[in-house]
Amino acid sequence: MSERVIVVSNRVPTEEVPSGGLVVALHDCLSARGGLWLGAHPEPSEDADGGLVELPGGDGYEKAAFRLTPEEYEDYYLGYANSVLWPLCHRRTDLIALDRRYAEAYERVNRRVARHLAEMLTPDDLIWIHDYHFLPLARYLRELGVTNRIGFFLHIPFPALGDVTALPEREALHDWVVAFDVFGVQTRADVARGLEMFRAHQAGELMLDGRVKFRGDTVDIRSFPIGIDVEAFAGAAQAGGGRRLAGLGEYEDLVIGVDRLDYSKGIPNRVTAFGQYLDRLGPDSRRATLLQIAPPSRSSVTAYQEITRQLEYLAGSLNGDHAELDWTPIRYIHRGVPRDTLARLYRAARVGMVTPLADGMNLVAKEYVAAQDPEDPGVLILSATAGAAESMTDALIVNAYDTLEMAEALERALSMPLAERQDRHRRLLTTVRETHIAGWSQNFLSCLRQAEPAMPRVA
Ligand code: G6P
Repeated sequence: MSERVIVVSNRVPTEEVPSGGLVVALHDCLSARGGLWLGAHPEPSEDADGGLVELPGGDGYEKAAFRLTPEEYEDYYLGYANSVLWPLCHRRTDLIALDRRYAEAYERVNRRVARHLAEMLTPDDLIWIHDYHFLPLARYLRELGVTNRIGFFLHIPFPALGDVTALPEREALHDWVVAFDVFGVQTRADVARGLEMFRAHQAGELMLDGRVKFRGDTVDIRSFPIGIDVEAFAGAAQAGGGRRLAGLGEYEDLVIGVDRLDYSKGIPNRVTAFGQYLDRLGPDSRRATLLQIAPPSRSSVTAYQEITRQLEYLAGSLNGDHAELDWTPIRYIHRGVPRDTLARLYRAARVGMVTPLADGMNLVAKEYVAAQDPEDPGVLILSATAGAAESMTDALIVNAYDTLEMAEALERALSMPLAERQDRHRRLLTTVRETHIAGWSQNFLSCLRQAEPAMPRVA
């Protein structure tokens, strides 16, 4: 029997052209090799206990969805996943909203997905689970007697040991992680935090081969930095015309930021830094305009509503202070923009500002570099707290909490000589090519194939 890859992620691509890092990466992987993608149905339904729903495919792989009730959407998705685990992993334990119902729904949904999966598995299937929505899934699959190899990839940061203390399920978290054969993370720093969590537990043991042992189970915690399809993105950017698209004046430079509107992205700090940069400009200086594209995300969660209000207030008041009759220095768009358009805007931007307070990797940093004209490239300003900063050391690396430092980096970026821009860009592009997206899934899957088969276990 031939191997089938089964991918599980909360979000499944439903539009014809998928967008977003996780979805694009997995779409490319499955289109090339076939397989099955299982995710949450986009429409909650009162009858969630029925079987899986087939989704229209046609991309060379099958798609299926499990249902959530409207209550589970609230408690599992908005609740446990996005109001407990998301802030925990992004160093915002102050924003964690604890509610027993959230943890119950998280367990119920994961157990249901485990049952659906267990019913359809054949012995040669490789299971690859993605992100924090499904941390306990391997544990529940093992309890159902599944012995297939099960891999996991965490797209967001592994939580810091001190923060894990804030999680009521911190003890179970160890059991969840160790039930996978391979637990993939983005960076070496994530591996270190993962190992630290086990080292700090009296039942945890770090083995000589680098794996972790915990109460009879072993897991391989490894980094697989995610990347992009560099050529495809560069190709889209070459269509050019970004300055016209953005309606820029002849003596105006473009600074661009593109993020889901999330408190982890550091957008208010970036806008404040841009205001400080404007404060330091002379009246005859060349104008720079910040274009901040921030599509809404998880907007029924209070913390997201608050960050939206904060950003709108800041952008409005800074424009009030600095705008001229013929110039609005900060342009904020609270909507998504098609990827091809983004690619052209990146190419037209003198500076790409990617300054999250915490981020698993951040593919905008890689896309910005791929989109540049190597003859006349723009400058990437990247915060040290983005996973991408571990390898993209030729960017201007800044502290996302220090707005003055970011304002100074803007000055430096906007006046950087051509030779230095070319030099930095060439080295950054080499780095971005090293983590090409096709290699990412191949590396992960070949590591998973080599894992020792699991022993059958009874709950
Ligand atoms: C991050 C997560 C993904 C998630 C995406 C969009 O990139 O790692 O798992 O799908 O954000 O968030 P959403 O809640 O809209 O799926």
